[in-house]
Amino acid sequence: MEKEIRKQEAEQTMLDERFEFRSIRPEEGEEAAEIERICFPPNEACSEKMMLERAAKAPELFLVAVDRQTGRIAGFLNGLSTNEESFRDEFFTDAGLYDPEGRNVMLLGLDVLPDYRLQGLGRELVRRYVRRERGNGRKRLLLTCLPPKVEMYKKMGFCDQGIANSSWGGSQWHEMSYTIPD
Ligand SMILES: CC(C)(COP(=O)(O)OP(=O)(O)OC[C@H]1O[C@@H](n2cnc3c(N)ncnc32)[C@H](O)[C@@H]1OP(=O)(O)O)[C@@H](O)C(=O)NCCC(=O)NCCS
Repeated sequence: MEKEIRKQEAEQTMLDERFEFRSIRPEEGEEAAEIERICFPPNEACSEKMMLERAAKAPELFLVAVDRQTGRIAGFLNGLSTNEESFRDEFFTDAGLYDPEGRNVMLLGLDVLPDYRLQGLGRELVRRYVRRERGNGRKRLLLTCLPPKVEMYKKMGFCDQGIANSSWGGSQWHEMSYTIPD
């Protein structure tokens, strides 16, 4: 256990040195949309229009990891806060549902570029997002994922709520929920 904690701390220090973690800047919306195109098939990806709208309306609900060497985004996690309690697909398409005071966050995309994968960046984005939103008084994070990702999110602290009320991209999704401790 102690060994595991030390390993995680070493990984976090390494990621901190390599990446700057922060909210998105308005001019980075197109870059985020391009990363989304690389990370998801066309039927699942958020369109450029939606991404630009989200980045303009809710930049503080993005967490981007910028490679300090290149100045480019390597990965990001984004969402919209709301007082709603379960996920619905309209959150993907309507950034107008954003309620800055919302107690929950609907997560809309975890994206890590292929060159940066399997190095702990996805996990670190989730960990930091939870910490930040805990500081903002949020209660729960919700997301939908396909069956092959259920175990990955469980390892990151999410619970499987079963089949989601979603038909995004013509697939059947699981709703996953993370309860943020007080
Ligand atoms: C899924 C994704 C975000 C993972 O990012 P990553 O930086 O490679 O993830 P990490 O290195 O932090 O891995 C965290 C854990 O998840 C596991 N994992 C990583 N990618 C996985 C995948 N595609 N399927 C299942 N498990 C995966 C890792 O093995 C690791 O497990 P461990 O804790 O036992 O070591 C990245 O592959 C990606 O952007 N994929 C395309 C978009 C996508 O599918 N996003 C999620 C949508 S629901």
